[in-house]
Amino acid sequence: MRRIYFCFGFFLLIVSFHGEIINATQLESNGVYIVYMGSPRNDHAPLLHSVMKRKKNSVVQTYSNGFSGFAARLSEEEAKSIAKKPGVVSVIADRVLALHTTRSWDFLKYQTALKTDSTPTSPSNGADTIIGILDTGIWPESDSFIDEDMGPIPSHWKGKCMGGHNFTSSNCNKKVIGARYYDDPDSTTPLFGTPRDESGHGTHVASTAAGRPVSGASYYGLANGTAEGGSPGSRIAMYRVCVAGGGCLSSAILKGFDDAIGDGVDVLSLSLGSSPGDPDFATDPIAIGAFHAVEKGIVVVCSAGNSGPSSMTVVNVAPWILTVAATTIDRDFGADVVLGGNKVIKVIKTLVVNCVPGSLDDNKVKGKIVVCENKDNEYEPEDKFDILKSQGVIGMILIDNYQRQIPSKFGTYAIAAVTEEDGAEILSYIKSNSTPIATILPTVMIQNYKPAPVVGYFSSRGPTFGIRNLLKPDIAAPGVAILAAWPANDKKEALTEKDSPLFNILSGTSMACPHVSGLAAVVKSQHPTWSASAIRSAIMTTAIQTNNLHATITTDTGSSSTPYDIGAGEISLSGPLQPGLVYETEADDYIQFLCNFGYDTSKIKSIALSMPDNFSCSSNSNSDSISNMNYPSIAISSLKENEGKTVNRTVTNVGEEDSIYAASVETPVNMDVKVVPDKLQFTKNVKKLSFQVTFKLTKTSQKDLFGSITWSSEKYKVRSPFVVSNA
Ligand SMILES: *[C@@H]1O[C@H](CO)[C@@H](O)[C@H](O)[C@H]1NC(C)=O
Ligand SMILES: *[C@@H]1O[C@H](CO)[C@@H](O)[C@H](O)[C@H]1NC(C)=O
Ligand SMILES: *[C@@H]1O[C@H](CO)[C@@H](O)[C@H](O)[C@H]1NC(C)=O
Ligand SMILES: *[C@@H]1O[C@H](CO)[C@@H](O)[C@H](O)[C@H]1NC(C)=O
Ligand SMILES: *[C@@H]1O[C@H](CO)[C@@H](O)[C@H](O)[C@H]1NC(C)=O
Repeated sequence: MRRIYFCFGFFLLIVSFHGEIINATQLESNGVYIVYMGSPRNDHAPLLHSVMKRKKNSVVQTYSNGFSGFAARLSEEEAKSIAKKPGVVSVIADRVLALHTTRSWDFLKYQTALKTDSTPTSPSNGADTIIGILDTGIWPESDSFIDEDMGPIPSHWKGKCMGGHNFTSSNCNKKVIGARYYDDPDSTTPLFGTPRDESGHGTHVASTAAGRPVSGASYYGLANGTAEGGSPGSRIAMYRVCVAGGGCLSSAILKGFDDAIGDGVDVLSLSLGSSPGDPDFATDPIAIGAFHAVEKGIVVVCSAGNSGPSSMTVVNVAPWILTVAATTIDRDFGADVVLGGNKVIKVIKTLVVNCVPGSLDDNKVKGKIVVCENKDNEYEPEDKFDILKSQGVIGMILIDNYQRQIPSKFGTYAIAAVTEEDGAEILSYIKSNSTPIATILPTVMIQNYKPAPVVGYFSSRGPTFGIRNLLKPDIAAPGVAILAAWPANDKKEALTEKDSPLFNILSGTSMACPHVSGLAAVVKSQHPTWSASAIRSAIMTTAIQTNNLHATITTDTGSSSTPYDIGAGEISLSGPLQPGLVYETEADDYIQFLCNFGYDTSKIKSIALSMPDNFSCSSNSNSDSISNMNYPSIAISSLKENEGKTVNRTVTNVGEEDSIYAASVETPVNMDVKVVPDKLQFTKNVKKLSFQVTFKLTKTSQKDLFGSITWSSEKYKVRSPFVVSNA
């Protein structure tokens, strides 16, 4: 009898949606264009009236709080003609962005605290802050959203709780203080109809960001622990911009931002994004909305995407956004596959390469465990299992190094993923036995699993597509197997055919993002006057790069992670409350970034609120200068041998008035890094100090090089990661 051990027990499952499923093609074929007019000082009224005069009922949304513009049903010709009108920055065809959850995990056994990290020790629990969430809506009945013992709604709240299908304003309380959704007023078939969450994603992320602690939270009674949001004292405002099928419309996203800015939220959390590729900040609704939110001091936190482990796949890369990668936590699940022996579930009789749906004969696979390779990219493993299940297959062993996280199903079904190494052993066993038999044992939980955190294999990776001088993602947070609130709908759960659970376990950068949103709210609550960039800096410079083995955080393959995987590192819950120094990135820095990115002055002028009339991009704007933005991390590109590149940074003291900091550098091989000055002395009157960092390659390197600069005082360590590439 041989046992093959494999880690990470979970079940791959597409989130089951209970509402009407509307696909992206249907959503996009609405003929809606967003007419974006930049700063709210630009009056959109004359243009809006001329559109309405020409075509009744054509206007879908109007934007006026954070920025100016509207969305309307237009012909392509009309859209082209409007794009040429004065004051119009861009005309963008409405499109669909996707949620950043790919998978859901069922666990056979686990029974411990489900908190992802220790509770913040500070007296602040986010009280009086408001976290706005753009997502699929909310299921307000969850225990995570009970408002017992909460103080009055913060006075800066100006939003509302919209009624809709099976949702009235009395569904809001002192925890869920706002709810909106974005139907086209003239459409006969409302896309949303209600702020009520019909898929679960919005409820899950909202409770992760700001749910109250619920003990005895469980997934079908199998999990047993406390589910708690990162900022349990915060209030939640839900902006439903995604339909039940998971598509999120840009016109609705922009309206969500516009409302949230007017409503007075402190933090915005978006677990969605467009596909990886060349960023275009003038057409990306999240980049546009976030720009204006940040101008108003709102911290905008977004998921980095689930397109890893390929490089250059991070989305939401604008420098005014805090971009979050996903890691595991110190809880793991192990399962044994027993080959041979007498603990048999069923016989493996069929070895089917790839298990392409439709390629298998029902009679051959019924009642069997099927071993599948996973070499095609066309089908997700969960799709394969769905089809196999309908053919009567009782278990699946998937050979896939990336997806070796072990899916294991309680009840009738068992699926497991193994590494190629273990897969080879299974295949050779099958070849050498006429009646191969196997048992997939129940998954057991491993407490204090080591190593943790590990980068989630799906988490999108740097370098940043098209912007080598900006390091993204910024930060990493737990996003694998996260237990959080779930809507208890009347429908059965798709795979278990049981009643919907009150809590569910999901994975994705979608789940990592609200951990950071909650943390940002806690920092904001403790330091209400800090800017959005100061809060981001505090979170980044206090991040942790080591795991619970005191070694460098690794990726799913076991190799050391780099800033391309985790940015500054894994969030610390207490560090950001007392960072010592912060890197403040001002509106002017972002504007200079847009110049360096290649936007012309008139385009930038229309986007930015606080632009002096005589502003113009300097003639030597170039992508290299992006490295000089006052950002908490540093990215240098196209550095040649013996050539030096220097960047400037300015830090602001938010710790004790009289303090001295010294610089230390973690320098990669073949490189010289010099910090001038290497001591900074702050006093009552000296709050801000600048320094220069010069990077010099002593020998050409084919690989990108990573290191860090840390300013240390007696009390604080302020760390910035850097990356140097020759590309
Ligand atoms: C989307 O739905 C339409 C209409 O129901 C259908 O014709 C089309 O094939 C669907 N597209 C996808 C990608 O599923
Ligand atoms: C309204 O929502 C509640 C809570 O989820 C549910 O129990 C009820 O069945 C829903 N009613 C309708 C008509 O959908
Ligand atoms: C859940 O955990 C608590 C404390 O660890 C224990 O007393 C209780 O029996 C557990 N409940 C179940 C259903 O396992
Ligand atoms: C822009 O105008 C302001 C005052 O109106 C002036 O102080 C500033 O120097 C001008 N900047 C440039 C680049 O001309
Ligand atoms: C960096 O700062 C120094 C001193 O303030 C200044 O002279 C220099 O021009 C700055 N360099 C860049 C690239 O902005």
